[in-house]
Amino acid sequence: MTFIRENYDLQTLNTLAIKANSRYFSQINNINELIEIIKFAKNNDLQILILGGGSNLIFSKDWEGITLLNSIKGIEVINENEKEVELKVGSGENWHNFVLYTLDNNFFGLENLALIPGTVGAGPVQNIGAYGCEIKDFIIKVEVLDLEDKQIKTFDNKDCNFSYRKSIFQNYGKYFITQVYFKLSKLENNVLSYPALITYFQNINMDLSIVTPKDICEAVIEIRSLKLPDYKNIPNVGSFFKNPIISNEHFLKLKDFFPNLVAFKNENNWKIAAGWLIDQCGFKGFKDNGISTYDKNALVIINIESKTGKEILNFAKIIQDKVKEIFDINLEIEPRII
Ligand code: EPU
Repeated sequence: MTFIRENYDLQTLNTLAIKANSRYFSQINNINELIEIIKFAKNNDLQILILGGGSNLIFSKDWEGITLLNSIKGIEVINENEKEVELKVGSGENWHNFVLYTLDNNFFGLENLALIPGTVGAGPVQNIGAYGCEIKDFIIKVEVLDLEDKQIKTFDNKDCNFSYRKSIFQNYGKYFITQVYFKLSKLENNVLSYPALITYFQNINMDLSIVTPKDICEAVIEIRSLKLPDYKNIPNVGSFFKNPIISNEHFLKLKDFFPNLVAFKNENNWKIAAGWLIDQCGFKGFKDNGISTYDKNALVIINIESKTGKEILNFAKIIQDKVKEIFDINLEIEPRII
């Protein structure tokens, strides 16, 4: 029998520490429990909210349905040869612990994605990415329970429609991700293209040719710790806005006015560093109504005085309006708004 709580406060379960009441709440450890709860939700006409680490959510209101905290665990090697290994991982596993497990076992590829908060199951939802890598490059397939027909389905990598911070799993309320299948390498295949990583190793006088995946993991942990506050002490959701993509024409116009613009070329357009745009507007460390941007990274909004989601969104609007006025760029909020 699965345990269901009523009127459950989600404040400790979201990293922005927003107070939000969930009408019902249950922790899910396996598929049988999940199926049982879905029946309960259907019978009571309740909307389902799936919660992993709560690190990519903004509650702008209470949740009138049922919240399911994903605790499906397990890491299994399902195939391997001298070069590669395939792993099946329970979606409720902690992402960073999983990355550490892979490195302890000399399975390489995920080192650039160290210290990203949240669960393994949340990874494919927004195609987590950092320091030159994205989770999509290591996923074979994603297993889900379809919440409508209660059937287990699998999506091969290409069917997940991954792109920058996007996938089909953002069709919230349709699927519960149960397992993620990864293919990792047993051979070191370092990605050292990201400027901050290169600078890190240059600063400690380490030749890039001798860097190991474990070194990269350590470097990423250190760089992230400097730029992204620990949500346990300073509530935040990492990057609050996506890095906007603009046309070549728009880029050329801006570059004339702002020669230091931080931009990365895609095929036909440019990805602009949102943190730089916000910083240029003078908003680094900006504080209003108990909410502020982080003084070491303007892209991070911190909820120091336990404000509501609505207040945080109002604060974000001040930034969005200014960036629009100065750069003619619309900043899109990165986390999911409830
Ligand atoms: N910058 C500033 N001022 C600031 C912040 C940034 O000038 O206040 C400049 C930096 O100097 C740098 C550029 O903006 O030249 C980019 O900054 P950074 O390398 O820190 O990366 P980012 O674009 O801010 C993205 C991801 C992060 C990811 C890092 C590393 C998005 C929205 N964010 O941040 O992901 O960890 O790159 O790859 O794509 C997240 O999604 O929550 C997240 C933290």
